[in-house]
Amino acid sequence: MLTSERLLLVMPGGAGATRAVDYFTENREHLAPWEPPFPDAMFSRAFWERRFEQDLADHRAGRALRLVVFARSDPDGPILGFCNFTQFVRGAFMACTLGYSLSRAAEGQGYMTEALRLSTAHVFDVLGMHRIQANHMPHNRRSEAVLRRLGFEVEGYARDYIYIHGAWRDHVLTALTNPRAPLPEYLRTEVLTR
Ligand SMILES: CC(C)(COP(=O)(O)OP(=O)(O)OC[C@H]1O[C@@H](n2cnc3c(N)ncnc32)[C@H](O)[C@@H]1OP(=O)(O)O)[C@@H](O)C(=O)NCCC(=O)NCCS
Repeated sequence: MLTSERLLLVMPGGAGATRAVDYFTENREHLAPWEPPFPDAMFSRAFWERRFEQDLADHRAGRALRLVVFARSDPDGPILGFCNFTQFVRGAFMACTLGYSLSRAAEGQGYMTEALRLSTAHVFDVLGMHRIQANHMPHNRRSEAVLRRLGFEVEGYARDYIYIHGAWRDHVLTALTNPRAPLPEYLRTEVLTR
């Protein structure tokens, strides 16, 4: 569990399933323009019981860190949002991919910036990653603003990148890097000279 001034970021396990169904049911229209289409299964408790259990296993195995955001003042209340760090690649890359969303009711209060400030620091300082990649559609100004506030830098532009809301959408590619990331042991060898 990670804690900031107003938020709790947790992997709730199967116990969070009902609230995840509520989140996606209540925010289906709010999220549809910005996220890939949701399969019908995402609106069932069984899906989230499996997914949240899988999240714990993925975290233990170093494959992903998927966090659910709650208000510290209401830990048993509704889910405010999700911060998903996935596709962990190690070795000489040490990078992962970030995705996130907030419920409509939780927007405009600085929650995502607060959640990502905390969780990106964890991914860098505790999990030892060197790079976090995050991409947004050019017209997703709210997402762009979140990433800019956190220091993510624009690195490129991918055409027809992800299928969202009925079409393949261009994305702006951004990343945040951590100059303090420790090198994996096997990379700490001297450069071989002949
Ligand atoms: C992208 C998304 C997470 C951004 O949410 P957001 O609420 O704009 O971002 P934050 O939570 O960081 O809040 C920032 C806003 O809160 C305001 N705010 C209010 N109180 C605040 C406080 N105490 N501290 C900081 N900011 C505060 C800020 O001024 C800012 O508003 P502004 O953009 O009008 O200036 C949200 O719009 C979303 O989930 N969209 C749908 C899914 C999506 O697009 N996901 C990303 C795909 S790339």
